[in-house]
Amino acid sequence: MKSLTDTRTLSNGEQIPCLGFGTWQTPNGKTTVNAVAQAITAGYRHIDAAAIYGNEVSVGEGIAQSGINRADLFVTSKLWNSERGQERTIAAYEKTLSDLKLDYLDLYLVHWPAAIGTTKNWEEVNADTWRGMEKLYHDGRVKAIGVSNFLPHHLTALMDMSNIAPMVNQIEFHPGQMQHETMAFCKQHDILIEAWSPLGTGKMLRSESLRTIAGKYNKSVAQLCIRWCLQNDTVPLPKSATPSRIIENAQVFDFEISPDDMAQINAMPYFGGSGLNPDEIRF
Ligand code: A2P
Repeated sequence: MKSLTDTRTLSNGEQIPCLGFGTWQTPNGKTTVNAVAQAITAGYRHIDAAAIYGNEVSVGEGIAQSGINRADLFVTSKLWNSERGQERTIAAYEKTLSDLKLDYLDLYLVHWPAAIGTTKNWEEVNADTWRGMEKLYHDGRVKAIGVSNFLPHHLTALMDMSNIAPMVNQIEFHPGQMQHETMAFCKQHDILIEAWSPLGTGKMLRSESLRTIAGKYNKSVAQLCIRWCLQNDTVPLPKSATPSRIIENAQVFDFEISPDDMAQINAMPYFGGSGLNPDEIRF
């Protein structure tokens, strides 16, 4: 990957820009409008949104304000957990489009699996939701569909009960939390991994080991983490509301982490992250 606009190819042939701009935890209003517009001005061509972030109206305003041609932008959103099931999925998609003021999405994801810890018939609930996603896809309303936070057992059950395999799985992915089993499963089934919280919601930035490695390349720890995601064939989705960091996080195409340093980072034990387990979440 040599630039922000370089793409990876999804299993259905759609192109996805290799790095996206995350919008989680930026509040609805001017902060988000400006951050999204600044990101697009800085060259990002991939915006990652979600209904539950509560800021899709502002994300849409940021997109409009940037003046970018819609066809040149890749926009993702996610179906929230309260809207599972075929009919609700379609209605939630309409609401998201109307909030974003767009007439299609490039990618729509199921935000979290209905899971063993919370839902007795979780396999059927996920399959029913997925039927809504498949319908949107078949009807040409969305260019690609996928999931988020799905572990191999959620994916296996879903794929056994449906016609179209997810094209993407967006998971928490940063040093110390590589989710090896999920990675291997997705690789085997041609499901692209997107990395949410590539900076471990900022926790990676305190690591001395990462600081030492980043120093070798004259890069920040944030840039090292984002580059590490790219070299692990994932699509990182860093987020920032700070203009200088929005630019910094995109300057990751002028260096290459050596195989030894990649191996060292890959081997780091868990040292912090969201702590969320998809089978145990209560939201
Ligand atoms: P801010 O929005 O104030 O810039 P993650 O993407 O892993 O969830 O991490 C996001 C957090 O990391 C946000 O709190 C963001 O803060 C911060 N952040 C993003 N980019 C950088 C950076 N380049 N340097 C330091 N902190 C950053």
